[in-house]
Amino acid sequence: MFTAKNFEHLLGTPGMSDALLRNHFTLYEGYVKNATALQVRLQELAASDAPMGAEWSELKRRFGWEYNGVRLHELYFGNMKNGGTPHDTDSPLCMKMKEVWGSCDAWAKDFRATGAMRGIGWVILAYDKETDALFNVWVNEHDVGHLVGATPILVMDVFEHAFMLDYGLKRADYIDAFWKAVDWQVVMERFAKAKRA
Ligand SMILES: [Fe+2]
Repeated sequence: MFTAKNFEHLLGTPGMSDALLRNHFTLYEGYVKNATALQVRLQELAASDAPMGAEWSELKRRFGWEYNGVRLHELYFGNMKNGGTPHDTDSPLCMKMKEVWGSCDAWAKDFRATGAMRGIGWVILAYDKETDALFNVWVNEHDVGHLVGATPILVMDVFEHAFMLDYGLKRADYIDAFWKAVDWQVVMERFAKAKRA
């Protein structure tokens, strides 16, 4: 069972209208509801004497899509704050970015450009402990492109519902607004935790 988290503390975030955020919260709550309903139905089918046929198979296939819709939104809203917090350029995360991209600015350019790509989905800065490496990953919809074993450090939603109400097709302007709202304290803590894990 999944329980929707409350992200109303984000209301008032500059560059994102309350109407946009409230719509987004409602959409996230839909994922929570659907993921829970799928989980319940799959358990019912598994416990029944009925053969695990077409319904069971299709729900199994769909589960990851709904589940990721829940978790990705929680990571996204969770790495935002009204007004944002500054990125410490002396932090271990920025040091690692420098190793991979040459500078934190070069990392940011790559991350933002990934978000500006055509299509709907997510951009994830992911840390792979196995190789001690960072990646900027494009995830199509909620489920295609995840790196197995890598931990999401920073997550940005680039589905059209995340920006169209305020920005129309100007996705770059939304990315600017998101950038100012990033809670780097949370992002740096996620990286520290992923390295320890
Ligand atoms: Fe979304």
